[in-house]
Amino acid sequence: MYISHIALDDFRSYHHQVIECDPGVNVFIGANGQGKTNIVEALVYISTLSSHRFSKGSALIRQGGNAGVIRVRCVDKERTFTLDLEIFSGQANRARHNSTVLSPMNIIGEVPTVIFSPEDIDLIRGERKKRRKFLDTLLIQLRPSMARVFQEYNKILHQRAAALKNASTVQYAGVPYDENSLNIWDAQLAQQAAKIISERSKLIHKMRPWLEHYYMILAGEDKKARIDYSVSTDTGAFKLPSIEKIEASDELRAAIDEHENELFDVAVLETNIRQMLKEIRPKEVERGVNLRGPHRDDLVFSLGTMPVYGYASHGESWSFALALRLASLEILREENGSDPILILDDVFAELDAYRRACLTDIIARNEQVFITAAVGDDLPDSLDGKKFSVTLGNVSLISPDDK
Ligand SMILES: Nc1ncnc2c1ncn2[C@@H]1O[C@H](COP(=O)(O)OP(=O)(O)OP(=O)(O)O)[C@@H](O)[C@H]1O
Ligand SMILES: [Mg+2]
Repeated sequence: MYISHIALDDFRSYHHQVIECDPGVNVFIGANGQGKTNIVEALVYISTLSSHRFSKGSALIRQGGNAGVIRVRCVDKERTFTLDLEIFSGQANRARHNSTVLSPMNIIGEVPTVIFSPEDIDLIRGERKKRRKFLDTLLIQLRPSMARVFQEYNKILHQRAAALKNASTVQYAGVPYDENSLNIWDAQLAQQAAKIISERSKLIHKMRPWLEHYYMILAGEDKKARIDYSVSTDTGAFKLPSIEKIEASDELRAAIDEHENELFDVAVLETNIRQMLKEIRPKEVERGVNLRGPHRDDLVFSLGTMPVYGYASHGESWSFALALRLASLEILREENGSDPILILDDVFAELDAYRRACLTDIIARNEQVFITAAVGDDLPDSLDGKKFSVTLGNVSLISPDDK
């Protein structure tokens, strides 16, 4: 599948812009702050309903505008379709597939994308929520119904936090709190948490061989790159490693491989999570907050027997982040039977000649790729494709004679 047209109205720095794209490579070149990332951010947003950089919904709307609109026309084999997303401030987005109005959540997965950007260093060095976002964004592209599970889970968390706070106040006043009401919240939390942990674990399992494969290619050395799920929840039969414990060797890995499928089973997880919530009830009531659950979980990255966090060099960290994105690309391709759109936002300047060459090979094999760069010189010479110049929120085609 490829995008043949992008139209932006009042999105970020764009008032009204239509871009005609080619299958294959599309490159946006322009000085800093001219609006290159804004274009690819629009693609990520219409693909996943989230941005690869931090932003409040309102920042996506052009300053002074009422609503931002992203519209893409896609060509998928014989089929052509249009997706529209209207973004409002403080109000729900609106979406259309061709001219049919649908819930914005239903457009997730229609245009699969994978983006690699400078922000990805945060996958390695940033807070755990960045890693969860990486995994969950991929997960909802693969299983769009999971977007509703996350929504439901967050709603339950919010309401359960209020119930715990209330129980805490009541207990502090020396009155017994309502155990039954908390039991109901525990059951609801466990049900959604089990689905999330199970889907995340299965995805990690699929990702592992691809991560190892791409890290080996990019870093050109035989340290094994590995990803594990680290649960804040003690799932009962088996506890996954926390970051500190990952240093402990191959036996730990063998134990994970042997027991990991316990994390795939929703029914087992649900029972274990309910049990765990029962055990920590006194602590949660004392503190009046949700202490455990997939909203606190993390991903653990390692190279050989060392954790990446705190040990890997700058170059190793970049290779690891890129390998994670390339693994995502392979998984989306495997599941959808076609290439996701690959987006490389300002990343060539960070890569050495060898890794640029690796990436150039991957680009050549993908059906459609969007690339941004501040300086054309950062791009590999062998990179062909349609080139656009971006200046002050205006996109124009660079004719081959101007190159
Ligand atoms: N809601 C908005 N309304 C108007 N302008 C905006 C809005 N959000 C961002 N901008 C402007 O968009 C510009 C940034 O665009 P973008 O991030 O696409 O730049 P870039 O070309 O990718 O730059 P760099 O090379 O530095 O990454 C900034 O000048 C910023 O002020
Ligand atoms: Mg940029």
